Amino acid sequence: MNRRNYLVGMDVGTTQVRVIVGEPRSDGTVSVTGLGVSPSEGLKKGIIVDLEKTVESIAAAVAEAERMCGQSIASAYVGLKGSSLDLISNRGVVAVSSEDREIREDDIGRALQATRVIALPPDREIVDIIPREYIVDGYDGIRDPLGMLGVRLEVDAMIVTSRISFLRNLMRCVNRAGIDINGLVLHSLANAEVSLSADEKELGVFLVDLGGGATEISLFQQGKLRQICTIPIGGDHITNDLALGLRTSYFAAESLKLEHGRAFCAQSGNEVRIEVSMVGSKERRLVSEKEISRFIEPRIQEMFQIVREETIRMGWTELPPAGVVLCGGVSAMPGILDVARIYCNSEQVRLAEPDYLGIHNPMYSAALGTLYYVHRKQPKHFTHERGGKPAHRKSAGLWRKMKNWMGEILE
Ligand SMILES: Nc1ncnc2c1ncn2[C@@H]1O[C@H](COP(=O)(O)OP(=O)(O)OP(=O)(O)O)[C@@H](O)[C@H]1O
Ligand SMILES: [Mg+2]
Repeated sequence: MNRRNYLVGMDVGTTQVRVIVGEPRSDGTVSVTGLGVSPSEGLKKGIIVDLEKTVESIAAAVAEAERMCGQSIASAYVGLKGSSLDLISNRGVVAVSSEDREIREDDIGRALQATRVIALPPDREIVDIIPREYIVDGYDGIRDPLGMLGVRLEVDAMIVTSRISFLRNLMRCVNRAGIDINGLVLHSLANAEVSLSADEKELGVFLVDLGGGATEISLFQQGKLRQICTIPIGGDHITNDLALGLRTSYFAAESLKLEHGRAFCAQSGNEVRIEVSMVGSKERRLVSEKEISRFIEPRIQEMFQIVREETIRMGWTELPPAGVVLCGGVSAMPGILDVARIYCNSEQVRLAEPDYLGIHNPMYSAALGTLYYVHRKQPKHFTHERGGKPAHRKSAGLWRKMKNWMGEILE
């Protein structure tokens, strides 16, 4: 059996499917050996709407990554976007069971189980419980109560729930593309791995992933993920506005946006004239960069207005000490930082700068971060080449296994 110690991270995004292959190093970094990207045809706003097209996109990205790294891929760690997830805070309380009042693993397990008592809509299921802090006999802020003495053990936890259909469809697509799933990693955690410093996570920071179909806001504080919120607006909406405004095709609008688009209209000029094809005619007309940006600016403003509203709704009328960090494809648009700073009413906004062994583009943060996250959490892991024995067989209770993966992988 051909066994290599390498990791595969997969991001099934609305715009693209990305597959990154990396060899974990002993210093905690990952050396990227393969990268596969394929346009994502089967997703809208982060949700799978066409199974077959999604399977094709995944297979194409995997094949490209295989060609680049020169080895076949049988399994991968797959990113999980916040749009399918909900985080709910809940508390669980138990009496410490041992006679000597020492808190054992069993007590911690029971306290976590007690947080499960929560009313859920029928289409959602708990996929994991993330403890935030423990409280022993009223003393809060305890990160690990194992071995402490106490009578009453309380846990403040984050319950991760998911829309069942989304997860099953994602897993089905990955499996149909011939790939087994080693585990699932929240995009927020993966992005944070390559975009945020430990200090920022400790102090408090909003990580805003400006994707193609949706924008995800994650709050980190005291080193932990605290909240996630997803807004169904992303770069695709900007392209759509531009296509409608200029009466051109979506495809043409996308390339105009990438080549000439600016988030701030005032930063664009009238000098450069760009030829644009018109829908339904052979006519072409000339537009300026300013005209292009005029259709982009309002949508970007709307995005940041909603981002700010959501952060206020999360309880932050003032930004947290480490402010806001922007990642995702749209964050590469020139001028975005200026708009973000105006709407956040703060200079404390920066762009994520993933610079990991040659990968700079923020579009790869989620897939790359998945590798770093898994490497940090589980330093010993193997991905098997096709023909070898995969880490998880497809047959036995996929749904149950998935929950186990979440348990393994989430903090
Ligand atoms: N330089 C750039 N300027 C402006 N927009 C850009 C630039 N680069 C990428 N984008 C836009 O970013 C979006 C894609 O971002 P990203 O790759 O993060 O999304 P995704 O992960 O596929 O989607 P999602 O996370 O919403 O499922 C597209 O709308 C693309 O046009
Ligand atoms: Mg994304």
